[in-house]
Amino acid sequence: MIFGRVKSLDAILATAEKRGLHRSLGAFQLTMLGIGAVIGTGIFVLTSEAAQKAGPGMMISFIIAGFVCAVAALCYSELASMVPVAGSAYTYTYAVMGELLAWMVGWALILEYAVGASAVAVGWSGYMVGQLRNLLGIEVPMEWVNGPSAGGYINLPAVIISGLVTWLLVIGTTESARVNAILVCIKVAALTLFIALSLPVMNMDHFEPLMPTGFTGVAGAAASIFFAYVGFDAVSTAAEETKNPQRNVPIGLIASLGFCTIFYLLVSAGAIGSPLGAQPVRDAAGTLLAPGTSELADRCRAIVAGGALEPLSCSREALAHVLRTIGWVQIGNLIGLAATLALPSVVLMMMFGQTRVFFTMARDGLLPTKLAAVHPKYRTPHVVTIVTGIATTLAAAFLPVGKLADYSNSGTLFAFMMVAISVLVLRKVDPDRRRPFRTPLIWLVAPAAILGCLYLYFSLPLLAILVLPGWGLIGLLIYFGYSRSRSYVGRGITDVVDDPAMQPEIAKPLH
Ligand code: ALA
Repeated sequence: MIFGRVKSLDAILATAEKRGLHRSLGAFQLTMLGIGAVIGTGIFVLTSEAAQKAGPGMMISFIIAGFVCAVAALCYSELASMVPVAGSAYTYTYAVMGELLAWMVGWALILEYAVGASAVAVGWSGYMVGQLRNLLGIEVPMEWVNGPSAGGYINLPAVIISGLVTWLLVIGTTESARVNAILVCIKVAALTLFIALSLPVMNMDHFEPLMPTGFTGVAGAAASIFFAYVGFDAVSTAAEETKNPQRNVPIGLIASLGFCTIFYLLVSAGAIGSPLGAQPVRDAAGTLLAPGTSELADRCRAIVAGGALEPLSCSREALAHVLRTIGWVQIGNLIGLAATLALPSVVLMMMFGQTRVFFTMARDGLLPTKLAAVHPKYRTPHVVTIVTGIATTLAAAFLPVGKLADYSNSGTLFAFMMVAISVLVLRKVDPDRRRPFRTPLIWLVAPAAILGCLYLYFSLPLLAILVLPGWGLIGLLIYFGYSRSRSYVGRGITDVVDDPAMQPEIAKPLH
């Protein structure tokens, strides 16, 4: 039963062909799309969390997480070139391993996208509060930028941005390629400036001790900082709108990932080499404090009150803080401004990705068609967008950025692993199908992706490890209680493109 109800690849391709989204994206735009979705809270904010977990060894963490994403991206590329349709990991799994596992992947993608969007919203909040303080002299009370776990009430700026993005999506705002290109330029310029100013004044002594928390700390930071790379799969979800997807999707995936990896390594080197260093903060007894806790927040306040520099691990706007420390106060503020301007687009992309996954699942009959209802005026799937928005906003209101990123990672790692397994299975069961992009050394690369995802997953904090099976259980209840009996594939319906609720406007093109 587990592998039953496989959706035929030919039916998927035929449906996509009929649905006919306009194909207008090229390799360059796809790469820009990938970079736009990838660079965000991970590098701008979670660098602090990575420092708290691994110290200077976070550079190794960036390499490990980047490697796992690279091998996963190679697997994504093969499937995306064969099945260039929306729905990404969910669709691939449906075609290879059947409905139940596809449902589980789609369900896990909710963690990746909706919870991921909350993480980016909370990351944005830190920069926004910094901007208000540095540019306007407004001090937002800590109770209103922290959830209860860090001693506050709710994270108000994160709630506001999530609500705003939901509204933008409801009224039909999708980011145009041009706006995305502008925001990518802003982010890349900010990171380039950071690298150019921080690398020349690096103090190599700050790289010692390299791994103050041992390799366990490095692995833990890799599992968390993995979030910084998430989003490259947005490229494959745009495959249906891509010119010559067979060539351009793999280029877009690999180029955006390669570009970001190089930048991340240079940025983390600059942060470690600054006067702040990257050694983790400990309590008076020398015990390591966990990121996102009120103990760490109290300790940070005590350090600053004692007149010392705020450690990297304590900062909510890590990169801006580093630059201010090395004397570039105005440029630090500018980088803060760049993050404040650019991060909302990452929230938008992730929430948009979520609506597309829901859309594809509803198109397959696994979710109520009503959920994908189209707004009569705005032509957007407003119901699903509002549901996504409420969930994202609630999570952003109460949870710290690191925890949200870890929960999101647990879902993403599962989806990536299933993609790698799907590639292997498909090579076995359908070896003659045309593969415009063949993952090189597949019998090494795919197992490396599978093992890498498992390794990172089990390096997450315990709670984040438990989130996936807990979430999966809820998913299974819904699948067996609702979706299984309504599935189009299960009922022998393979072509639902004529359903009026499923018209192409629902999935708005990205151009
Ligand atoms: N990779 C994206 C970020 O870092 C999700 O914000």
